[in-house]
Amino acid sequence: MASEQTQQAGEDGGVATAQETLSITDNRTGETYEMEITEGTVRAMDFRGIKVNEDDFGLMTYDPAFKNTASTRSKIGYIDGEAGILEYRGYSIEQLCEHSNYLETAYLIVNGELPSKDEYAQWEHEITHHTYVHENVKKLMEGFRYDAHPMGMLQSTVGALSTFYPGANNITDEHEQHMAAVRLIAKMPTLAAFAYRHNLGLPYSYPDNDLSYPENFLSMLFKMAEWKYEPDPRLARALDVLFILHADHEQNASTAAVRNVGSTQVDPYSAIAAGVSALYGPLHGGANEQVLRMLDRIGTTDNIPDFLEGVKNREERLMGFGHRVYKNYDPRARIIKHHVDEVLEVTGKSPKLEIAVELEKRALDDEFFTERKLYPNVDYYSGLIYEALGMPTDMFTVIFAIPRTSGWVGQWLELVKDDEQAIARPRQIYDGYREREYVGIDER
Ligand code: CMC
Repeated sequence: MASEQTQQAGEDGGVATAQETLSITDNRTGETYEMEITEGTVRAMDFRGIKVNEDDFGLMTYDPAFKNTASTRSKIGYIDGEAGILEYRGYSIEQLCEHSNYLETAYLIVNGELPSKDEYAQWEHEITHHTYVHENVKKLMEGFRYDAHPMGMLQSTVGALSTFYPGANNITDEHEQHMAAVRLIAKMPTLAAFAYRHNLGLPYSYPDNDLSYPENFLSMLFKMAEWKYEPDPRLARALDVLFILHADHEQNASTAAVRNVGSTQVDPYSAIAAGVSALYGPLHGGANEQVLRMLDRIGTTDNIPDFLEGVKNREERLMGFGHRVYKNYDPRARIIKHHVDEVLEVTGKSPKLEIAVELEKRALDDEFFTERKLYPNVDYYSGLIYEALGMPTDMFTVIFAIPRTSGWVGQWLELVKDDEQAIARPRQIYDGYREREYVGIDER
């Protein structure tokens, strides 16, 4: 209620319009404050003006895991979690998967618009001609243990790229920004494939400029003694669709990590290495690996009821199910499920698909999952495609990182051009000891 006691809690002191405001009464003081509501949000800093007295620090908002905090404005990815919609720059993923390819989608994400023919040709040329890495990057990778997890290798080599391109430190220079975008998108498949070959003890296979982006990746993974590797076009297309679907997902944990680290104004390679680290976790990109391990453990469809009981008793999680934002079928999972069949037509049946389909069906029939709105997410079926392509489970998250790089780069570019952003520095509620007397080690 606006009364004599009503105060403008906002820092800028501006007066908000009648309807688009929030009135808050602080019962500690009886004061009423009015806050502006813009685009369904109030500004956390507006709470700082709510104080019991002049010396008071002011109210903070407490939001562990950022469950209800918008940390940025973005024009890149749009998600409607209730309706199961995902769009990049306003184009639905369904349309992009049908008509576009990953490289064009990456251009869209990074630059904001679909490219003209000339722009696309230039972009494709640039990406194709930056796929090689410095030989010392290769030597660095050779130094890892034979069984190093490829995601650990990727994380460190992406960070190491900053030492090869020190100009990228100049984060406001448009040419440097563009070169970092091109280099990161171009080199990520090379680093990923080198990590794979390292695990197998095979010589690294260099990029082939005659091939498309997904074909080249398959070639770097699987080329042996043949003069030229010829990937099956259906497999290359399925991989391209997976790349489109993984390109961006607004402020997920790894993108938030890129933005957090990038907010220190460090170079983009270091910021994106933070994204790779976050993606590695089993609750994020690592889930696809966990799904296959879970299906392996279940073994046969007969064991599904016992497994689901274990999930309900909280002894395990149904990996590849649930999402912080989607409270409906993840639209990416729907498209991937359709492509699993196509891939298996080429590579042969997978007994795990039968378990996955039956497990999904039973979970979606079960109140435990429906009440909590737990549906398959992007990771539920993607691992089955990766496995059919001949990829070991350790590589799954690495393959996720390849296309997510365009999202990280696009979001990093948005960050460095956004005047409202500053170094990300959350607050805390301190609930530890204060002002204790030091006690010598002999007296403890
Ligand atoms: N299996 C069993 N129970 C689950 C699951 C699951 N996969 N996911 C959520 N729940 C339950 C959870 O126990 C909780 O129940 P209750 O309210 O009774 O305590 C309720 O559902 C809400 O879950 P939450 O953990 O509070 O939800 P969150 O938003 O913090 O977590 C999530 C989201 C994705 C981390 C979680 O659903 C999960 O751990 N899923 C499995 C891992 C996975 O598939 N991750 C990939 C996510 S999509 C790709 C990506 O973004 O990288």
